[in-house]
Amino acid sequence: MTMRIAVLTGGGDCPGLNGAIKWVTKTALDPLLEKNRSVKFDVIGIKEGWKGLVEVDPDDPKSVKEHIIPLDEEVVRTWDRYGGTNLGTSRTNPFNPKKDRSAKVIENIRKLGVDVVVAIGGEDTLGVAYKLYKLGIKAVGIPKTIDLDLVGTEYSLGFDSAVNIIMEEIDRLRTTAGSHNRIFVVETMGRHAGWLALHGGECSGAYIILIPEHPFDMDRICDLLQERRGREIQYSIIVVSEGAKLGGVQEFYKDEKLDEFGHRSLGGIAAKVADEIEKRTGFEARYVILSHLQRGGSPSARDRLMARWFGIAAVDMILNEDYGRMVSYLHGEITSVPMKEVIERLRVVDVDKYYDIDRYNGKRTIL
Ligand code: F6P
Repeated sequence: MTMRIAVLTGGGDCPGLNGAIKWVTKTALDPLLEKNRSVKFDVIGIKEGWKGLVEVDPDDPKSVKEHIIPLDEEVVRTWDRYGGTNLGTSRTNPFNPKKDRSAKVIENIRKLGVDVVVAIGGEDTLGVAYKLYKLGIKAVGIPKTIDLDLVGTEYSLGFDSAVNIIMEEIDRLRTTAGSHNRIFVVETMGRHAGWLALHGGECSGAYIILIPEHPFDMDRICDLLQERRGREIQYSIIVVSEGAKLGGVQEFYKDEKLDEFGHRSLGGIAAKVADEIEKRTGFEARYVILSHLQRGGSPSARDRLMARWFGIAAVDMILNEDYGRMVSYLHGEITSVPMKEVIERLRVVDVDKYYDIDRYNGKRTIL
């Protein structure tokens, strides 16, 4: 029996995606494993996520060439070292209620001879995979998002690389902040989950960390900064998550636009926090929005390893016919969970467990 696997990456890019594609391909095509399998795989990559499956015309060889890349060991050999996604990505939603193209996607999957789709993405991409699965398409998911907000897994590709970037940039800021005796407000990504800000801030030793899960108050921030002045400390680093809420209500968005999944782009809160600090305390404050730097560069060791394990596990799931599920990392083990449980919910920071609401920082008691 032969089986065609189609791999795609959807949503925001990040380091680790190429590794996952490589390890799906290598595992599926492994000649030693193939001997003991009753199935022989071939693997194709779909370009630009679900957009590729919406736009491809399977009857037109030129269009197929434009949207599909045949994958083999030679093609993917070096991919795990590189960030981004060599397949490209998009935020296309075939189930967009304003323009539902799901029937086209299903038809194209069938016409391309695809037996199973491996979707690498976050809640939106996996949500589409799950809907297709319910409509009869065999699908498995691999978790990816620097936001770490996917339910059902304690790790998603990209997070560790992004935290390392936050740490490195804050290390850089410290020398200039210290030289000028300034406060720096550093804005991280993360949408409505504070994991990036919290872990990035904790590993960098930030003085204040603001996360969406706990509303913050400017007066409290100013008190914390005043308390610190006069001590040996010359400057302070404040890490703020893009989704943090001033006074518990005010969110900051870049513009009014909605993407195909109904999300608006968050951003800009750091400027407000820095401005308020200057106005209220007279301390000099600057801000830095790390933005897409957090998704750039090559994958960390952890992301390379997790990409490998997730890619291998996705092929195991196909062999076990565990469709409609997402690879997951739980309690130190690679396992899988039903995609149904993963979508339309977010895994956010448990404030009682991980956040100190008095000092606006990570908890100082752990056990
Ligand atoms: O979900 C990943 C993420 O990087 C978020 O942290 C951020 O809010 C968003 O994507 C940015 O999206 P875009 O790349 O479309 O600007």
